[in-house]
Parts: sequence; C-alpha cells; structure tokens
Amino acid sequence: MFFRQIRTKESSLSYFFGCATLGKAVAVDVVAGDEEMFLEQARMENVSITHVIDTHIHADHYSGGRNLAERVGARYALHESDASLVRFPFHPLRDNDFIEAGNVGIRVIHTPGHTPDSLCLLVTDRRRGDEPWFAITGDTLFVGAVGRPDLGGHSEEWAGQLFDSLQEKILPLPDHIEIYPAHTSGSVCGKGLSGKPSSTFGFEKRTNPLLSSPDRESFIRAVLSDIPPVPGEMERIVAVNRGECR
Ligand SMILES: [Fe+2]
Repeated sequence: MFFRQIRTKESSLSYFFGCATLGKAVAVDVVAGDEEMFLEQARMENVSITHVIDTHIHADHYSGGRNLAERVGARYALHESDASLVRFPFHPLRDNDFIEAGNVGIRVIHTPGHTPDSLCLLVTDRRRGDEPWFAITGDTLFVGAVGRPDLGGHSEEWAGQLFDSLQEKILPLPDHIEIYPAHTSGSVCGKGLSGKPSSTFGFEKRTNPLLSSPDRESFIRAVLSDIPPVPGEMERIVAVNRGECR
C-alpha cells in the first residue's frame, strides 16, 4: 500500500492512501484548496480515487471533500446520521461497514462524541496480513488529547457519548495499532494536542490524560474543563460544509 499524511491549514491532517498494485485510493478529510494536490498525488501513484471520506462535518475548516469527489467521480462519504443535516446526496457510512480499495480494507467505526457523526477508520493492508495496521481517528482521539465535545450545544451529553465510544470501540483495539488523527497541536478542536502527528493505541492508553479517567463522570468533567475558544467563523463553516450555503 501507499500512504501519505498531509499537514495542511488550521493544524489539520489529511490522508491519502490505497493500493498502487490495483490502482485504487481513498482520500480522508480533504481541506478546501487542497483538491489539486490530491489529484497530483493520484497521478503520481497512478491510482483512481474511489472514495473521499470526511470523518465528520468539520467546524474549523472548509471541507474540500465533496469538490474532490465530484471532480474524480468518487463517492463522497459521511456517517449516515448526516442525511438529515446536509443538503446534498452522499454515500452513507454505517458502523462496521467495510470499504475496499484494491488490497487495502477499511472498517468504519462510528464513534460519536466530538460530533454525533464522528467516524474512525480501521485500515488493513491485506498484502501484509489480515489484522488492521492503523486507524485514522478523526477528531475522536488525538495524540495526547481527545476531540472537544462542546461545539454542538450538548456538551455533557456528547462528552458522555465520547467516553462510551472510547471505552467500547477504541480502547479495546490492540496496542500496536498506529493512530493518525485529524489535527495536531495548534488546533482548537481539542486541548493539549501533541505536535507529533501519530502515535499508537498502546502509547495513548499509557499516557493520554483523557484516557485515564476512572469513570464517565470524571471524564465529562475533565474533557469540559479549560476548553479552548470556539473556532472562528464556526457557524458559517458548518453551514458551508452542510451545503446550506456556499
Ligand atoms: Fe472536528
């Protein structure tokens, strides 16, 4: 497989990976303005982009995902819960869906909390083995932090959902799996993010302060304390990303 992590605007990280042997690729969390760069990467690898996925409707930057998908004829994919929120057709992803891009397999994990539509993607290179190798964790789990759950006006409820997602779906994953989040330090989508753009589940379980809360209530208190200011222009960015305006 090939794999690129792309550092872009707003301390965001995008991903482009797939199977060069069979010429299939997936783009994740594409930021508006980067579409041409993804097209160039696809030309370099001689692959066609089959899926463009946003791990959630972003509140801190304009998504380029839908535009890129339209330009290459790929499926633009979001969690199915966005059907009632967005004003355009998309490919709905459900928990436990499996996407194939040649020899690369992607298991969809629905991890509500940062937002109700948040996804993680568990990726397997079937040329290397049947076990997942890494996870793209969106704004659910960062290196040294977790996604803020307060941007939708349901802080405590979403914080509780984030605790449940982490405990039930993320922490049981094997320690050796690498994690690749949607942001690094400098982002306001969480607090205390590391500047290092990748980690492993094992290292985060040992060192991430938000993963050591003994119970749901302590987690909710910890994740909602000392939270950063909301992203600038958040309402307009969300409206554009939902297709409510341009
Ligand atoms: Fe986010």
